[in-house]
Amino acid sequence: MKYIPKDFIFDLVARTNIVDVISQRVKIKKKGNNYFGCCPFHNEKTASFSVSDKKQIFYCFGCGASGSVIDFIMEFDRLSFVETIEELANLHALTVPYANGSSDKNKTLSANNIRADLYSLLNSVANFYHQKLYTPEAAGAREYLKKRGLDQAIIQRFNLGYSPDSWNETHKTLANNPTLLQLYDQAGMLVTNDNQKQYDRFRGRIMFPIRDRRGNVIAFGGRTIKADDNVKYLNSPETNLFHKGRQLYGLYEALEKQRNPTRLLVVEGYMDVVALAQYGIDYAVAALGTATTDEHIKLLFRTTDNIIFCYDGDNAGRRAAWRALNTLLPSMMDGKQINFVFLPEGEDPDSMVRKEGKVAFEQRLADAQPLSNFLFEGLLKQADISTLEGKAKLSNIAIPMINLVQAENFNQSLRRRLGDYLGLLDSIQINGLFSQSPRNTSDQPSIATQQPMELKLTTMRILIGLLLQYPELAKTITDKQSIGYSTLPGTDIFLKLLAICDHYPDITTAQLLSEFDQAENKVVLQHLKTLAVWEHRYDEHDIAMIFTDTLKALYDNILAQRQEALIAKARITGLNEQEKKELSTLLVLLKKG
Ligand code: UTP
Ligand code: MN
Repeated sequence: MKYIPKDFIFDLVARTNIVDVISQRVKIKKKGNNYFGCCPFHNEKTASFSVSDKKQIFYCFGCGASGSVIDFIMEFDRLSFVETIEELANLHALTVPYANGSSDKNKTLSANNIRADLYSLLNSVANFYHQKLYTPEAAGAREYLKKRGLDQAIIQRFNLGYSPDSWNETHKTLANNPTLLQLYDQAGMLVTNDNQKQYDRFRGRIMFPIRDRRGNVIAFGGRTIKADDNVKYLNSPETNLFHKGRQLYGLYEALEKQRNPTRLLVVEGYMDVVALAQYGIDYAVAALGTATTDEHIKLLFRTTDNIIFCYDGDNAGRRAAWRALNTLLPSMMDGKQINFVFLPEGEDPDSMVRKEGKVAFEQRLADAQPLSNFLFEGLLKQADISTLEGKAKLSNIAIPMINLVQAENFNQSLRRRLGDYLGLLDSIQINGLFSQSPRNTSDQPSIATQQPMELKLTTMRILIGLLLQYPELAKTITDKQSIGYSTLPGTDIFLKLLAICDHYPDITTAQLLSEFDQAENKVVLQHLKTLAVWEHRYDEHDIAMIFTDTLKALYDNILAQRQEALIAKARITGLNEQEKKELSTLLVLLKKG
């Protein structure tokens, strides 16, 4: 296991101003001590999203999303933890100092920055393939691309290439030492056969480099140019860099053209994306041979308000669109649109745009069917609502699907529409139907939809909460040692926080949170985040006093516990002289308190 040292993360959080990062992505305005804006994680018109310069955290009063700049970038840019750290490191022109874990099989790899090495290797592979496209051996490939109508500019823009028709030329050229070969293998570029012989995965194919949101090549798709090949497209396997469910082919290229596209078109194939771009429709992306995932939808909605899915017009296409509803309905957001376009039978976007050109194709997009129409069209095909039985059937099949919709306004409008078909005009009657099968609101993985936990305020939680929000309070504690005797739950965390505060005088809330590892301490971290945004309603001037008073209650609690322990011991085994003295001191102290 390679990991990123905690110090580095801590330092990154300290160097980054969350206000700068967020204001580049969300419109926020200063009001009092904080910045406010409309929450990017749920749809709203009132500004309940706040960013605290002092604490270096964000918090949405509406949906409960909260956290440090790391949490924000992860959620907003749909990046993994490691990608986020890389992004922040980039911002400060730092290199992530990856360290190797204890037992390490990857010793031969350069200890640092395996990820960066992988990116740079795959980038050179992509460029190698691209250069190959202009060599004599690639005459067939060039001919093929020409036949498919792609010109130089588009080949350059997508950096299309050709993988030599050889078992080993690519890795012999680019991965000519054991370290590089191991990286090349990790990147999914090698195949090992049953006899442990290794050879290049991609041979004699047109190569489509797949880039992540930042433009790094992370995988490839390769199309055969042989008519008799039974594998038309070959794709990189899932690797550390490449997770199909999170990537969209063409998104980087589309955003290069337009930072904030008004719509994005989701098509099926690599060729569709490239051919559409050739015709000036440069906002198409493709899910890489997998069904659309909710990660895809989130990623798309981060980028645009309107997603159009393009399907074949045949039955298989319509069935695929219907199946996609299971993912689309829960991912739909108020204020956003999902539309469907069904092409005539036998056509795909590539063939269609060639036949009819950009204007006609874009007219199809303008006439696209909204998600809700597609949903009801499908439902009404399954139930004949001219009969009572049909109506009952409609409500039976519609309710579970409508219940998938989390977006409040969209959910309401679907309910009303169902009510119309059922002849229920009264919203109470309609909602009555739904109350019998309550919506499933559990199991929401993203921070965006997590409501902050309700925490009962105990002495320890008040102390932790105040310290998190006002780390400078650590200085006011004179007796830290006694706290160690507390047996209250959370004591260890409070002490850990105190120790960090002592070490770093100007620490922020966000930095304190960054000391708690997401993977190791998920529950603890969730509690801490809740306390970090806890609205305490104390007057700012009283904070120090309240902290001291609460601390006093903690000391009393420690003394009382000690006293109880001594009294119990006196009953059972008796006390020695020193214990007797301690007990009488305690009695006096506690009476005074
Ligand atoms: P299609 O077969 O519809 O491909 O597969 P296409 O893009 O129209 O290809 P051309 O026009 O014949 O060149 C759609 C997508 O499904 C995946 C690829 O991502 C492809 O772009 N696919 C298809 C595979 O992964 N493997 C295959 O063998 C076929
Ligand atoms: Mn095609």
